[in-house]
Amino acid sequence: MTTTNKTKLNETTSLVRPSDDSKQQLTLQLLMAVGTAVIGSLQFGYNTGVINAPQKIIETFYNETWHKRYSEYMLSTTLTTLWSVSVAIFSVGGIFGSFSVGLFVNRFGRRNSMLIVNVLAFIAAALMGFSKLAESWEMLIIGRFIVGLYSGLSTGFVPMYVGEIAPTSLRGALGTLHQLGIVIGILIAQIFGMKEIMGTPTMWPFLFGFTFIPALLQCALLPFCPESPRYLLINQNEEAKAKTVLKKLLGTEDVDADMQEMREESRQMMREKKVTIPELFRSSLYRQPIFIAIMLQLSQQLSGINAVFYFSTGIFEKAGVSEPVYATIGTGVVNTAFTVVSLFIVERVGRRSLHLIGLMGMAVSSVLMTIAMALLDQVKWMSYVSIIAIFSFVAFFEIGPGPIPWFIVAELFSQGPRPSAIAVAGFSNWFANFLVGMCFQYVEELTGPYVFIIFTIFLLIFFVFTYFKVPETKGRTFEEISASFRSGAEKYTQDDLNTLGADAQL
Ligand SMILES: *[C@@H]1O[C@H](CO)[C@@H](O)[C@H](O)[C@H]1NC(C)=O
Repeated sequence: MTTTNKTKLNETTSLVRPSDDSKQQLTLQLLMAVGTAVIGSLQFGYNTGVINAPQKIIETFYNETWHKRYSEYMLSTTLTTLWSVSVAIFSVGGIFGSFSVGLFVNRFGRRNSMLIVNVLAFIAAALMGFSKLAESWEMLIIGRFIVGLYSGLSTGFVPMYVGEIAPTSLRGALGTLHQLGIVIGILIAQIFGMKEIMGTPTMWPFLFGFTFIPALLQCALLPFCPESPRYLLINQNEEAKAKTVLKKLLGTEDVDADMQEMREESRQMMREKKVTIPELFRSSLYRQPIFIAIMLQLSQQLSGINAVFYFSTGIFEKAGVSEPVYATIGTGVVNTAFTVVSLFIVERVGRRSLHLIGLMGMAVSSVLMTIAMALLDQVKWMSYVSIIAIFSFVAFFEIGPGPIPWFIVAELFSQGPRPSAIAVAGFSNWFANFLVGMCFQYVEELTGPYVFIIFTIFLLIFFVFTYFKVPETKGRTFEEISASFRSGAEKYTQDDLNTLGADAQL
């Protein structure tokens, strides 16, 4: 999805840092700053999940509005198109947003960037919230685009800010809050979408307008949050300010070591020449890792996860589930629970193995889903099988294809090529997200119960690709990883060879 996890970005740089963990503690100031920042992650998750439950209701609104304007009802093909656009335009916004992160963070600073982009959230909330009153689905669609823009920007800002204000020892733990914010945002949207809350023909505009409230909250709190000390020191050269902020954040007077670390890190960044996006593809050094990075992002989105997060209520309905909205909320709960589970295992188990397990688990789940849908007419209890299949589909996603692609992208590239690599990966991710959102309903109309077979095929292709082409990155330095790309499998340690299989060609 959705689940963009760029937190590893900063964590990997910490491999080269000396860290003195004994004195670092979680201060109130730090907790508040992180909490305020991850409101942005929550917004991204919320707007991913929000169009799921009320699909039918809003389609009726589209249809009736069309009738009022043109005195005829909408063709069902037109409706499918308009709804797919309403869903998928969010990702088009995301593409533009994720590409613009760099324009903001170094000019305005990290905190102020987060503050400024709330303007987008307000505009989007107003457009979407008033679309019914104005009898205009165009407003809803434009609002979705703008909130996508906001989300693309946020998923760049939040991990960066959190990574830069957190002390080394807490960076991993606090970084995961971004991921958690996203899945909780999805869950909140699913719960609000129930007909008892806002999933009704009169209340749905509030469901979309709700984005206004977290935005307001964030605007109220951000002025009390510090600017990133790293930005103050490195970009602004404001040593005294950086020191003051750091003292407050860390709750200690003794911050010289941390200041030194930041300087050292920035010096290291200067030493390494920045690699542009065309250079990534031209240089034989980067061609293979960038290809892997792109494929991993595609494996995340083309796994079909967003078919579930965008359309699960409709899917459950077709699978004969009597209360599809509750089943949808169930996917949100499973999603959140397994995100927490994966936070604990991802640091211990190799990324490659987790990704493989996740892909295979999803493939099996989607086969199960297909069987359940195909046999529904003969066997009534197949609707329960479909619920189980979707739940395990989501669970396996959060174990592997959810978090792992971002981890590996950050780990495959050192400081110089990393920003360009992240941009390319982000583009691939949002683009594939767009394809699924745009095409799912059409493909479903064509294939009926067999729509998940397509995801099974993709999942198996990505499984094979990961098995043969993706190296294990856990616990290895960039030098080791890039050396392995340069000279093939002989640079691998014996352990790697055992897990890779002797015929792995890298
Ligand atoms: C639009 O509404 C009319 C009247 O309720 C209905 O007959 C028609 O099937 C609807 N069109 C679509 C595409 O749902």
